[in-house]
Amino acid sequence: MNFDQAYRDRRMGAADAAALVHDGDTVVVPTGVGEPPALLAALSARGPELSGVTVSQILPLRKFDYFNPATVDNIRHNAYFFGGPSRPGGQAGWIDYVPAYFSELPQLIDRGLTPVDVVFSMASPMDEHGFFSLSLAPDYTMAAIRRARAVLLEVNPNVPSAFGECRVHVSQVAALVESDEPLLEVGLPTIGPVQEAIGKHVAELIDDGSTLQIGYGAIPDAVVMQLRHKHDLGIHTEMIGDGILTLIESGAVTNRRKTYMPGKMVATFALGSQRLYRFMHLNPTLEMHPVDFTNDPYLAARNDKLVAINATLQIDLLGQCGSESIGATPYSGTGGQVDFVRAANRSRDGKAFIVLPSTAKEGTISRIVPTLATGTHVTTGKNDINYVVTEYGVAQLRGKSARQRCDALIAIAHPDFRGELRAAAARMRLM
Ligand code: COA
Repeated sequence: MNFDQAYRDRRMGAADAAALVHDGDTVVVPTGVGEPPALLAALSARGPELSGVTVSQILPLRKFDYFNPATVDNIRHNAYFFGGPSRPGGQAGWIDYVPAYFSELPQLIDRGLTPVDVVFSMASPMDEHGFFSLSLAPDYTMAAIRRARAVLLEVNPNVPSAFGECRVHVSQVAALVESDEPLLEVGLPTIGPVQEAIGKHVAELIDDGSTLQIGYGAIPDAVVMQLRHKHDLGIHTEMIGDGILTLIESGAVTNRRKTYMPGKMVATFALGSQRLYRFMHLNPTLEMHPVDFTNDPYLAARNDKLVAINATLQIDLLGQCGSESIGATPYSGTGGQVDFVRAANRSRDGKAFIVLPSTAKEGTISRIVPTLATGTHVTTGKNDINYVVTEYGVAQLRGKSARQRCDALIAIAHPDFRGELRAAAARMRLM
């Protein structure tokens, strides 16, 4: 096959590529910066003439025109996780969602439990062997490519070419659309004194030589900032962002003591600055893999001293975490939280941390509660939870009784709420 000819045969404008989507199709789009803006804008523009098209994605970053309750019969977003553009529709009920562990999305696709007709993705320029790198988010996209009728790539020279199982061959592609706009950047969240205090508590419990998974949100990044003086850390994570990049640049990450894939960092999607995307390009220390590899609890647990750091919104006195909804109102999604909590629990000397400020809404609400609000989506369950950290300290729950859990969690609740939590625990016959 002449790859250059194959490339030319498939190259077209975004409108022509979007015309390959038919009524009733499901279009699968990768996480975050892996979403192709020219293709999605062209699909949006076709909205009025389409019917019953679904766009399935875990974390949209841009608000395309199809995020509109008036046009959901034309094109409807289907969420694996709510982000900025999809949250209002999720909360109002005109965007639907699929509850799932991130690690299992490729399996749902492979088994036909969730449909795929077309894949849209960002891609690096083609190499001399005819391959494009989908380094920004191979996540469930590689599985979707195996089942799709048509794969449409937006080829952009700013997309890094990374190692790992994230390559697709020109012969598998139906359309190539070229663009060169800079990749979206997502900055580090603001870290206040509460987040910093939580970061310090967690950092004290992380040994040199640990392998890290860093979750989503301000506190996981606050923890990272406290680890710059550690030695020989490793990375086996879901998301690689600027927090991890800062840690690498500090010299704290060598990956040498990893017991699974030593010398290599592993991730399934990238979300950060141009600096991060440049760092990923042909970097022999990094591999980008599908999420059923990175987040598989059994594989990730082959790293001894695996440390997982993930955030929650609310936790009850048994340690059940409502990380993705506020009551029955969806906020985000399960993502990889449970995958990595379970992985760290299985890992020899591993530690799973769930982090949260003790209060929300300027100190008016305790996030440690006797019972989760009615309708709360439970993310990490009581049998999986281990370390819980607020700005007041650390509660270690695994192996502990209900009574001991109440004691430990109330001790790290905000002092203003400890009395009422104790009274509620007594009423519930937990203490
Ligand atoms: N009651 C009412 N409101 C609450 C609340 C509670 N118990 N807890 C939080 N909130 C509000 C906050 O005040 C905040 O509102 P604001 O935006 O108006 O300030 C909002 O909910 C978000 O809370 P916050 O603590 O700032 O969340 P975060 O930005 O740190 O994100 C999540 C945390 C949502 C990302 C995280 O819980 C999540 O999705 N976890 C599941 C997925 C996961 O862990 N993935 C890891 C692998 S990447």
